[in-house]
Amino acid sequence: MDTKVININSTEPEEELIQAAAALIRDGELVAFPTETVYGLGADGLNEDAVNKIFLSKGRPQDNPLILHVDSVDMLEQLVMEIPFAARLCIEKFWPGPLTILFRRREIVPDIVTAGLETVAIRMPSHPIALRLISLSGTPIAAPSANSSGKPSPTRAEHVLEDMDGKIPMIIDGGETGVGLESTVLDLTGDKPMILRPGGVTLEDVRMLLPNAIVDPALGPSNEDMVPKSPGQKYRHYAPKAQMILVSGENKKIVDEINRLTTEAVLKGMKVGIMCCTENKGSYSAHMVADMGSCVDKETIAHNLFHIIRDLDRTKVDLIICEAVGEDEIGLAIMNRLLKAAGGKLVKV
Ligand code: TXA
Ligand code: MG
Repeated sequence: MDTKVININSTEPEEELIQAAAALIRDGELVAFPTETVYGLGADGLNEDAVNKIFLSKGRPQDNPLILHVDSVDMLEQLVMEIPFAARLCIEKFWPGPLTILFRRREIVPDIVTAGLETVAIRMPSHPIALRLISLSGTPIAAPSANSSGKPSPTRAEHVLEDMDGKIPMIIDGGETGVGLESTVLDLTGDKPMILRPGGVTLEDVRMLLPNAIVDPALGPSNEDMVPKSPGQKYRHYAPKAQMILVSGENKKIVDEINRLTTEAVLKGMKVGIMCCTENKGSYSAHMVADMGSCVDKETIAHNLFHIIRDLDRTKVDLIICEAVGEDEIGLAIMNRLLKAAGGKLVKV
């Protein structure tokens, strides 16, 4: 299959170009498109055969459910049994935007979307291309991140092409995505509001509305024996081909330890890549030193993260050593992705 890449203006999308993409969605085909978080791999969320193509082209395990993307609360109401009060509050405050909410699903939602679960994950993206694509398709769009399963999520159309060339008919290139990490997944169906995957909307943001919100305890690095509530969180993810180690602690000690680990690896003949904040860049010498952004600007670090991991992998380093960031605000989502990328390998100094 030929994969067509079409450029669409991300602030004022050209209507006729999105029409062509929407026609593919209505025909049961796949279209990759930008959202404000990462690129999504979209299909008509009510068409079982179309959704099945998502699993095939990503190599995604069938027990990992998908998010449905809607353009309105009207569309949401078609899909769910009820909208609880807490969900209404969150919708009002955070939609459209990087927050996915779990609802009790109606019959109309195919089993393949929810992996047979009684809940369905839904979000309204804020990216103008994504919103317009959903509206013109006239159907909720099921869309996981548009990477091959296990790889870092795509934040640029070129990343999607790397993974999906020849497998899907169309990629919409709308430039770099904003947040750079996936949406927050919030479960409001249990006793307490629970974040199942940290993301663009932070725990602190959610607690302003729902003060008793917690993060799924199974996500902590020391809780590997617990099963996360979100099926996607149990898989190794975002994984570079290189080995990866995270180093956390006080800044000076982090720098010393990374330099020590680098020397050790270089002596073994390994090629080393380092991911660090701008302030520490001058303290390292390695095959590649990638600047994630300033330590005091975690939004920028989030924005750059997946691109840097893909970039380092292309340079064929054997080992990536990365500085940990503080787990406040978006730092929690950054550390969640980094720990997964590193397969849990964290050195505390
Ligand atoms: O920002 C995003 O959320 C992007 C863009 C494209 O919207 N999408 C995305 O989808 O990251 P995906 O499939 O890569 O991640 C969806 C996550 C998975 O961890 C999945 O297990 C979880 O949401 N999920 C989906 N439905 C669920 C459900 N009913 N219960 C628990 N977790 C669910
Ligand atoms: Mg994903």
